[in-house]
Amino acid sequence: MAIIYEESGRVFTLQTSTSSYQMKAGEHDVLLHLYYGEKIEPYDMSYLIMRADRGFSGNLYEARKDRTFSLDYLPQEYSCFGNGDYRADCLRAVNADGSQCADLRYKGYKIYKGKYGLPGLPALHEGDGGWETLEIALEDSASGLEVTLYYGVLESLDVIARAARIVNHGQKPVRLERVLSFCLDMPDSSMDFMHFYGKHTMERMPERLPLHHGSQSVGSRRGTSSHHHNPFVILCRPEACEEQGECFGFSLLYSGSFTAAAEVDQIHQTRLVMGIGPDGFSWNLEPGEAFYTPEAALVRSGEGLSGLSLRLHDLYREYLIRGKYKTNYRPVLINNWEATYFDFTGEKLLDIAGEAARLGIEMLVLDDGWFGKRDTDSSGLGDWVVNEKKLGMSLKELADRVNGLGLKFGLWVEPEMISEDSDLYRAHPDWALRMPGRPGNIAREQFVLDFSREEVRSHIEAALCRILDGANIEYIKWDMNRSIANVYSAALPAERQGEVLHRYVLGLYEMLEHLTARYPDILFEGCSGGGGRFDAGMLYYTPQIWCSDNTDAIERLKIQYGTSFGSPVSAVGSHVSACPNHQTFRTTPFDTRATVAMAGSFGYELDVNRLEETEKEAVRAQVREYKEYYRLVHDGDYYRLTSPFGGSRTVAWEFVSKDRSEALVCGVVTALEANPSPIVVKLRGLDAGKKYAVNGTVYPGSALMAGGILLPVPQKEYWSYRYPVREVKEERDDV
Ligand code: DGJ
Repeated sequence: MAIIYEESGRVFTLQTSTSSYQMKAGEHDVLLHLYYGEKIEPYDMSYLIMRADRGFSGNLYEARKDRTFSLDYLPQEYSCFGNGDYRADCLRAVNADGSQCADLRYKGYKIYKGKYGLPGLPALHEGDGGWETLEIALEDSASGLEVTLYYGVLESLDVIARAARIVNHGQKPVRLERVLSFCLDMPDSSMDFMHFYGKHTMERMPERLPLHHGSQSVGSRRGTSSHHHNPFVILCRPEACEEQGECFGFSLLYSGSFTAAAEVDQIHQTRLVMGIGPDGFSWNLEPGEAFYTPEAALVRSGEGLSGLSLRLHDLYREYLIRGKYKTNYRPVLINNWEATYFDFTGEKLLDIAGEAARLGIEMLVLDDGWFGKRDTDSSGLGDWVVNEKKLGMSLKELADRVNGLGLKFGLWVEPEMISEDSDLYRAHPDWALRMPGRPGNIAREQFVLDFSREEVRSHIEAALCRILDGANIEYIKWDMNRSIANVYSAALPAERQGEVLHRYVLGLYEMLEHLTARYPDILFEGCSGGGGRFDAGMLYYTPQIWCSDNTDAIERLKIQYGTSFGSPVSAVGSHVSACPNHQTFRTTPFDTRATVAMAGSFGYELDVNRLEETEKEAVRAQVREYKEYYRLVHDGDYYRLTSPFGGSRTVAWEFVSKDRSEALVCGVVTALEANPSPIVVKLRGLDAGKKYAVNGTVYPGSALMAGGILLPVPQKEYWSYRYPVREVKEERDDV
C-alpha cells in the first residue's frame, strides 16, 4: 500500500521506496501539510508544528479564541488568496460579488489503484503499472467552489504526481485569476533553489542559489515554456552534490507560460508553488464547469542530484513518453537545414540522400522551405501545399525515391504559425493572434495562429493530414519559431481574453493528440527554435525534442549537461554539423562532434557530399557504433561525471546498463596544457565487486569508481574519447 489513511487522526501518508509525504485533515477541516522527506513509519507528524500566537497573523473565525491557529504560518496543501494566508497562493478566485477569496475545507477522500488522468492535458500514464491515486476534496461553502487535489503515487521511482480540479458547484460564475498545480510547504529554508535559465541557442544553463527570505521565482510569459526558463526546478540541501544529499525535483507537464516560485516566510519555512503563469491569465468558470490544472511530478532523491536524474529519466521513459517510439529504435537521420537552408531542389536532396545511404544513415529529413512561397523565412507559413515547382517533383515522388535509396523520409512543419505574406493570412487575417486596433508584434516576420479557435485548428490539421496522407512520411519535426505576443482572440468575448493562452496550449495538445493517434507509426520530434519548448508536456506527444539550434559541440556540452538534470538523453535531438560551426564559427574535430551528438537521438545536419573521404569513413563507423550502443545510450542509466561549469579539464559522462554489465564513458577535453597534469575520470554506477575491461586492461569495478581511469595526454584541441567498459566474468590477460 503506497497510500495509507489513518482514520482517527485523518492522516494521509504517501509512501514511496525511500520517501514519505504526509498531510492531515486537521482542526476546522483545514488540510495541513505535515511532512515530505526520508521514508518514515506512517506516524502523525503534526507534533512538529509549533503552534504560537504570531502577531499580525490572523485567525480563522471559528478559531478566534485560539490565537495560535493561523493560516498565515500553518503548512498548507493548496493555498488560497484572501483567507489570511499571505504567502504565495495557488488559487485566486474572484466571486460573482467581486470578493477575492476561497476558503477551502476538507470534505472527503478517495483512494484507488491506478493513475488518474487529466482531460485534454498531458499526464503521466499507467506505463507498466504500480500507481495508486488519492483524491482529496476541499470546498469553499460560500461560493460552492470544490477543489479536488490529485496525488498519484509511484512507489518504485519515488514519484508523487499532483494536479487539481476546480468545479463550480455554486449558482454564479467564478473568475479564476490564478490556479496553480500544487503548493509544497517545507518546515525550513536550509535549501538551494536550482533552475535552468537560457536564451535561444543556449538553453537550460543550471544556476543554484541558496533560498533567501521573500520570493525567488522563474517562469515564462512567452506563451511557451521558453528557452529562457524551464518548467523544471530543484530544491536541494546545501550539502547535496551529484552523489549524495537530499534533492527534490519538480517538473511541470506544461508547454505554455508558467511560474515556479519558492518563498521563505517569517519563521523561515519554505513554500514552493508551480503552475500556469498567472500574468494575463483568467478563466471564467460558469456554474457546473470544471477546470483542470496541468500536472506536476514531484520526485525526491536521498542520493544526490544523480539519484534525482536517474529517477526522472526512468519516469519520463516509462511513464511519460508514449507510442511506438517509446521503445522502438529511432533511425539515424540527416537533416538538410544546415546543409542547404532554403536553397534546395528535389534532385539536390536526393544527392544528399544517396550519399547518406551509402554511409549507413537511415532517414532524410526535409526541413523548412518545401511548401507555399517559402524561399526565405519571411513568407509562406500557413500555406501547407507542396511547392512542386521548387522541388521539381511531387512530395510523393521525392519520398518514394528517398525510400528507393533505402532511407526513410521525414518532414519539417511549423503548424502554429502564419506569415503575413501568405494566402492564409490574406484570406483570414483574424486567424492570427492580434489585438484590435494595433499592428501587432511580429517576430521572424510571422504571427501566431489562434490555436484557441477550433476552426483554425481544423483547417491546419486537415492541411497536414493531406500532406501526411499523400506521401510516405515516417517522421515529423514540429517547429515553433517565436514567442507569443498580442494575446487576443477575435473569437472570444472581452471577459474571456485571459483564457486565450491556456486555450492555445490546450488546442496545441488536442492537435498533437489527434495526429499522434492517427499516425502511430510516425516519429514526432518537437522543436521551438531548438529547445524553446523542451518540457515534459511536449514529451508526452513527441518522444524527442531538438535540443538547441546551437550545434557547436563545445557549447552543446553545457546545453546537454543542463538538460540532463531533468530529461533522459533519448529525449534530446542531437546532430553532427559542419565546421566552422554555423553558430559559433568554432572548429572542432569531426569525431568530437560525434561524441557529443551520440549523447542523444543521433543524426547529421550537413551536406555529406562535401565531406572528405576520411570523414565519410568516420560517418560509416559512427553510425555502426551508435547502433551498437543504442540500447545502452537510450535505456541505460546516465551519469554526469564532471561539469562543464567546474574547473575540470574534461567534460565527461557515462551510460551504464541496468544490469551493470556494460558501460560507455564519453568525454571531451576542453583545455590543453603544456607539461600536462593528469586527467582522471572516476566512473560511477558499476558493480564494485565486478571486474571490467577498459581499453584492453581489466580493473576491479571498485578501482574504476574510487580511483578512476587516467586519460592519455590529448594531442589536439577538443580531443574526445568514447571508452566501452565491459564486465569480465573470469580474469583473463588477453582482453
Ligand atoms: C528552427 C529550428 O530549430 C531549425 O532546426 C530549423 O528547423 C529552422 N527553425 C527552420 O526554419
